[in-house]
Amino acid sequence: MCGIVGYVGHGDTKEIILQGLRTLEYRGYDSSGMALMSDGEIIVEKKEGRIQNLADSLKGKVFSSEIGIGHTRWATHGVPSDRNSHPHYSMDKSVAVVHNGIIENYQVLKKELEEKGYVFSSETDTEVISQLIQDMYNGDILDTVIKVQKRLEGSYAIGVLHKNHPDELVCAREHSPLVIGIGEKENFIASDVSALLKYTKDVYYLEDGDTAVLKSGEIKIFDKNENLVQREKKYIEWNLEQATKCGYPHFMLKEIFEQPQAVKETFNKRVHNGKADFSDVLNYKDIEKINKIYIIACGTAYHAGLQGQFALQKIAKLDSAADIASEFRYSDPFIDDKTMVIFVSQSGETSDTLAALKEAKSKGALTIAITNVVGSTISREADKVIYTMAGPEIAVASTKAYTTQVAIFYLLALYIAELRGVISEEKYKEYISEIKDMPEKIQKILDDCEKIKPAAEYFKNRINGFYIGRGLDYKVAVEGSLKIKEVSYIHTEAFASGELKHGTIALIEEGTPVIVIATQRNLIDKSVSNIKEVKARGAYIITIGFKNEENLKNVSDIFIGIPECNDLFAGFLSIIPLQLLAYYTSEAKGIDVDKPRNLAKSVTVE
Ligand code: F6R
Repeated sequence: MCGIVGYVGHGDTKEIILQGLRTLEYRGYDSSGMALMSDGEIIVEKKEGRIQNLADSLKGKVFSSEIGIGHTRWATHGVPSDRNSHPHYSMDKSVAVVHNGIIENYQVLKKELEEKGYVFSSETDTEVISQLIQDMYNGDILDTVIKVQKRLEGSYAIGVLHKNHPDELVCAREHSPLVIGIGEKENFIASDVSALLKYTKDVYYLEDGDTAVLKSGEIKIFDKNENLVQREKKYIEWNLEQATKCGYPHFMLKEIFEQPQAVKETFNKRVHNGKADFSDVLNYKDIEKINKIYIIACGTAYHAGLQGQFALQKIAKLDSAADIASEFRYSDPFIDDKTMVIFVSQSGETSDTLAALKEAKSKGALTIAITNVVGSTISREADKVIYTMAGPEIAVASTKAYTTQVAIFYLLALYIAELRGVISEEKYKEYISEIKDMPEKIQKILDDCEKIKPAAEYFKNRINGFYIGRGLDYKVAVEGSLKIKEVSYIHTEAFASGELKHGTIALIEEGTPVIVIATQRNLIDKSVSNIKEVKARGAYIITIGFKNEENLKNVSDIFIGIPECNDLFAGFLSIIPLQLLAYYTSEAKGIDVDKPRNLAKSVTVE
């Protein structure tokens, strides 16, 4: 949700900032801009729309600049426009600021500055930061920014240039992500490490309240008490290839196809000598006192949590409930030191999830994060962290993060089940082997991806549709429905199959697509009945089921078979055709699959 980058060094500043912005475009694509220090002045170029617009407007322009900041915007305050794009100058153009986050007290600050004669040229909250820096400037830009921070309420990661300090890039963070890339005689800032991979893999993650000043050969970080601090240097394992399309037309397709590898790596990281190993996270003593598990997340991560709840209840036999982070916080949940709360977040930066985490921690719960991003805020705030091994996920629509989160939940459920003594050795072995086989089975579905295209061709001309399933299949249906909504703009809803006839069936008419997920063998007869009910009212049936289920095939217009597995683990597989269906439908409609409208990856506002 807005991406910021910054550079100081002797490289081609304009190109480095542009390339960083291209990598971060998934964080918002309403507008983009950059500020470069050139010949003692700060030059700002910004354009509404995609980064290509900015690149076009910069074409042929040469700047002798060794320091710059850039921004890609997901609009919050003020419509997408050139005027509201970042960077924002101060009134006298001595300062330029890029910002990710929301300044909650901006109206108070704005009024105060206007009374002093400051004239604002945008509707954004961010502009108060640049104006305040001008107003409070004391000859030392680092010290000024530190003092300005004390006036700001809300969340921010900022990059600041001041024309009197042509070799200093100042940055700061509070509740929004910011990472410093450490180079050779050059240094960087970025909202996320993927923008840095081309240049360096050594980074410092800033903590809340930190302020830093970067020169080409020096980085100084100060904590919220203004003490010079040494943050731990981290090495990023991700490689540049993972953050590029590698010949795929879209990141979403590439990431769907990366799932066998991602699940395999997640499995290998956590399974040692045939046993799921989370001893770094939980031991018998922790488990012994836990009587309730909450799983908290947003969007797709929440849907992975639904599968997690299923796995924890069925395998670990522990009372578990999944909830949406933004609801959980205000629902007055009963939490104490016997509660374990698992927070799931690909980015590790989602505001609602983070706020729920802080709430659970304050009530004494044991908090565990499942996240994909090393060093992310949620990973640092939680008591314990489990990393998924999905690699960078760039497409806005989450796919491989979801399957690796699901893999973690199943392995964790097995680990807890063994600690609690609720699983036989035989079953344990069988289940581990089921999970181990998943990458190969996912690959088989991907090898047959062409079979999904007729369903996408049908779907692309529809304006709505339904996803139905029972038990675990319903949990997968919810994710399938979200996936197609976000990338193809077709309105779909997921329903528990049995619930459909309690009202929603009134919406079924001739040709309405109904996607049926039916992998739970004990419920297949009931699913067949549900299919017949909607078919009798004109529905077009697209079914996902185990490949030999003739009963299902016979009642479906399109049947997509998946490899056989134990029902408990079917969610690993049934989601794959649904992701492909969403992708191909979006592609068939000519939508920008990786950057669907109104969305941004990593939602860092509440
Ligand atoms: C949908 C999607 C979102 C995210 C949600 C949480 O494809 O990606 O629904 O799952 O915004 O994001 P994280 O997992 O980063 O907390």
